[in-house]
Amino acid sequence: MNPKEILSHLQGIVGPAYVLNSPEDLATYAYDGTAGISGAAPLAIVQPASTEEVAAIVRFAYENSLVVVARGSGTGLSGGSTAIEDCIILQTNRMNQILEIDAVNLTALVEPGVITADLDMEAAKQKLFYPPDPGSMKISTMGGNVAENSGGLRCFKYGVTEDYLMGLEVVLHDGRVLWTGGKTKKDVAGYNLKKLFASSEGTLGIITKILVRLIPRPPAISTLVAYFDDVAKAGECVTAMVAEGIIPCTVEFLDNVVIRTVDEYANLGLDLDAAALLLVQTDGHPAVVEEEAVQIEEICKRLGAREVKRAKDAAEGEQLATARRAAFASLARVSPTTVLEDASVPRSELATMLLFIQEVAQRYDLRIGTFGHAGDGNLHPTVLIDERNEDEMHRMHKAFEEIFSKAIELGGTVTGEHGVGYAKRDYLPQMLGETGMDLTRKIKSTLDPGGNLNPGKLLELERT
Ligand code: LAC
Ligand code: ZN
Repeated sequence: MNPKEILSHLQGIVGPAYVLNSPEDLATYAYDGTAGISGAAPLAIVQPASTEEVAAIVRFAYENSLVVVARGSGTGLSGGSTAIEDCIILQTNRMNQILEIDAVNLTALVEPGVITADLDMEAAKQKLFYPPDPGSMKISTMGGNVAENSGGLRCFKYGVTEDYLMGLEVVLHDGRVLWTGGKTKKDVAGYNLKKLFASSEGTLGIITKILVRLIPRPPAISTLVAYFDDVAKAGECVTAMVAEGIIPCTVEFLDNVVIRTVDEYANLGLDLDAAALLLVQTDGHPAVVEEEAVQIEEICKRLGAREVKRAKDAAEGEQLATARRAAFASLARVSPTTVLEDASVPRSELATMLLFIQEVAQRYDLRIGTFGHAGDGNLHPTVLIDERNEDEMHRMHKAFEEIFSKAIELGGTVTGEHGVGYAKRDYLPQMLGETGMDLTRKIKSTLDPGGNLNPGKLLELERT
């Protein structure tokens, strides 16, 4: 089938207005939020409005051996939703309905194009809470969040996307529609298929409906900012909090480079001379929140914080958290190229990892700003460079090789929450081992025998 016929068939499914193929569109979709990774021009971008339309597109692609790459807002940070040459980009943003908030069963049923923050705002109207909050939550879609099993700032206490996943509707490689899961909290009938699709990165099926768990909204929140003279002390402070039985909602780390960049962007009056800060939020019953805030302040001071400031109210706390969520965006303003990584270590190794990143930055003469979800041991060392400078790019790659090896050596992972995509594909064998890779390939070839779904992402390219 020639490209013209393919386009006309796709237009027949979704309507001509929802098939994009201007040169600008085709060039744009070669990229997602990941610096330094570009795909190729797709054949077209198709924007379906229903499960039936998704199924028709996928079936058509299957029958004609065409590649389908699912995509939401394109905020991904591992190159998972970048176009592959001549693929069909299946963009889910029009499927953006919150279909139900069930306040009795504490669930929400949503379409994949629903924006993450919109779901939480809708839940809030009924005093309910959807905790997973990736940095991009004001733009990112729920489908993307499930496909990448996204984390965020509140995951230290509340867990990641898959911890809220109760059910999924998925269009399989040949256009069949699978529903898996349901509203019952207990359900042990068969393999946990829904969890297989969480973090499958568009390689096993296309998610068309998502059922998530909601929880009661915590009535109170308190926010503290603790400043430290050295990064290791901040790391040790996180370990100490947990050892003393406190699991705050959020414990975020920012080093000096990131403190300065975020403050320049958001004008918060942060201490620009501190080597590091911890942004800590505790939420729950007001009395517990008050008690924990006092304890956290005491622990930070005991562990060597040079200053601890408490936000005067929830609004000020939210302003600080919002500024932190903009860390990546603010760093992206500083240099032509911003390569942000996602190494994670067990919390006990946080201080070691922070010192190691500093040492690597010096040795490779790179400007690295590090921030991240310290409570989870999930760090985002971010190299600020210019991709036109080959020598600098080479040093950046070498530095990250060392950082990833160290993360693995310390019992951690090369990606805590951004996914494998293209960016980490070559590290997957090191993470999973031979047996893990063998199983992963078998799962892929069973669920996508033709290799039509996002081929070359997560796993090396194998099309039949
Ligand atoms: C964040 C993204 C980059 O934590 O993961 O802001
Ligand atoms: Zn993050």
